[in-house]
Formats: sequence, structure tokens, C-alpha cells
Amino acid sequence: MHKIKVEDREFEIFLENETINKRIRLLGIQINVDYEQKCPLFIGVLNGSFLFMADLIKEIDVPCEVAFMRVASYEGTSSSGKVKELIGLPDDIEGRDIIIVEDIVDTGLTLTHILKTIKEKNPSSIKVSSLLLKPAALKYEIEELEYIGFEIPNEFVVGYGLDYNGLGRNLTDIYRATES
Ligand code: XMP
Ligand code: MG
Repeated sequence: MHKIKVEDREFEIFLENETINKRIRLLGIQINVDYEQKCPLFIGVLNGSFLFMADLIKEIDVPCEVAFMRVASYEGTSSSGKVKELIGLPDDIEGRDIIIVEDIVDTGLTLTHILKTIKEKNPSSIKVSSLLLKPAALKYEIEELEYIGFEIPNEFVVGYGLDYNGLGRNLTDIYRATES
């Protein structure tokens, strides 16, 4: 088993880049069909979504725009339950078809907060694409969750944009924390 160390923790390979990219190609096809004749505005949630956004957007062939925003809500390996303000949200959301791009949805608290804030700006429609979803951790019902890459067990993962204490975002594959 391919194992690596990020800071003080051991991780093992979980999703290889090729697997991730195959799945993203399928998500792209789905979005292209659903948004035919539309011009969606993709809004990535920084930092974790930057690689997923880069690969997803390359699969999109309808006209589209890309923006990023930030919300700080997470420290260490479990959700803190605190959600801070949204920074850098584009101001031309009214009447647009919005697709929020997330790296991972855990409890869903962050996403619920983002959705509430964006809905107040009267978009025409709003959906979410998240590379990863931990169904067992989900505490909020989110009907906008439409384009999910992988449903994963309730374990901490790192790589492909996801970090452990700021480290590991550069890893091409996704790794999960080993028991220990
Ligand atoms: P909630 O609980 O609000 O959390 O859905 C979503 C945010 O928590 C972070 N998160 C993780 N980050 N590996 C990470 O690197 C994980 O396994 C993980 N689980 C949750 C992430 O920043 C996400 O936006
Ligand atoms: Mg993070």
C-alpha cells in the first residue's frame, strides 16, 4: 500500500488522479447537458477547490464564467462548527445560473451558509458541485447538491487541493488518514 506522511500524520492512497479525472469528465458531460443554452457562473470555494475547478472547467463547453470566494471555517481534522464571513463573492449574481464548486462537503454547515448568502442575491438558479461528499457526516439537508464526484467514508482526506494543516494540497492523488 502506497503510504505517505504529511506533517505528523500517515496517509494511504485513496483516489488516484486518473480515477479523479475520469469522474470529472463525466461531471462535465452532465453539466454541459444541463446548462445547454445557458452561461453558468462557477464559484469556487477557496482554497480547497482550486484544482478541482481547474480540471472541471476544462470539461465545460458551454459559455461560462469562473470566480472564487473564500470562507474560513475549518481547523485540524474535524469541523469546528464555526462559519465566518464570505470574502470575495462576485457582485453580479442576480439572475445568473450559479454553480458552487467545493472540494468536500462534510457536515454541510459551510455550504448551507454559502447557499443562504448567495440566495439573498437572487440568482436565477443555484446548484453545487462537490468533488467529495461524506454522507455519514452530513447534518444539513442540501437539495442543491447535484454534481458529486465521490461519496466517501467519514475519514480525513488530503491531496488534490485538500490540506492537512495547510500541507498536501499539491498532491496529485487523494489520500486518507490511516488508523493510528
Ligand atoms: P463542513 O462540515 O462545513 O466542512 O461541510 C466543509 C469544509 O471542511 C473541510 N474538510 C476537510 N478538509 N480533508 C480536508 O482537507 C477532509 O477530510 C475534510 N473534511 C472537511 C473542507 O475545507 C471543507 O470545505
Ligand atoms: Mg481545508
